[in-house]
Amino acid sequence: MLRVLVCVSGGGTNLQALIDSMESGKVRDAQIVRVISNNKGAYALERAREHHIDAVCVSPKEYPDREAFHAAFLHAVEESDPDLIVLAGFLVVLPEEMIRKYRNRILNIHPSLIPSFCGTGCYGLKVHEKALERGVKITGATVHFVDEGTDTGPIVLQKAVAVQSGDTPGTLQRRVMEEAEWELLPRAVDLFAHGKISVRDGRADVAD
Ligand code: GAR
Repeated sequence: MLRVLVCVSGGGTNLQALIDSMESGKVRDAQIVRVISNNKGAYALERAREHHIDAVCVSPKEYPDREAFHAAFLHAVEESDPDLIVLAGFLVVLPEEMIRKYRNRILNIHPSLIPSFCGTGCYGLKVHEKALERGVKITGATVHFVDEGTDTGPIVLQKAVAVQSGDTPGTLQRRVMEEAEWELLPRAVDLFAHGKISVRDGRADVAD
């Protein structure tokens, strides 16, 4: 059984999609062993507890500096002994030590077709604001491994979603979640659990 740790900051609809896929058997041979949030009020923590999943908050506000926060965060990660870490709307920059230790074992979901509309400061609703500002007709979502850059790691899965006339950032965000994110993230975890993702020369290969 693959031990999955999920890190969240907000509503947790991607976490919910993962929980539902595990409960329905769409994702097999994987279990969520812990959910960590940097934000005490994150609804994602409630979702985890409703499903009897260990849910903890490690907030930077409770530590004197970044170093102390990183140490506490890393401790909470290591305590759960994960095989795979999933960032499901986690808006904190990871400690470099963690990226090194779990190389090609940290998956992130981003709500655009990387390399469009990504990088520092481009997350959540802002991604969809930028896509609409630019007037693209196609957007989507990407699951990728996390490396030292922001949204620069090996791309695992992508799915395109059409922009519709009259879209607002909110309607576009919802469609990208429904049509792409909630499908891609569980699929990536299932592929990982079955050893179907390999990385070579900074590129991921998926054996479907
Ligand atoms: C999702 O759209 C996810 O792709 C995005 O935050 C949202 C979290 O929603 N992540 C990023 O922008 C990361 N760069 P959720 O809490 O309902 O899953």
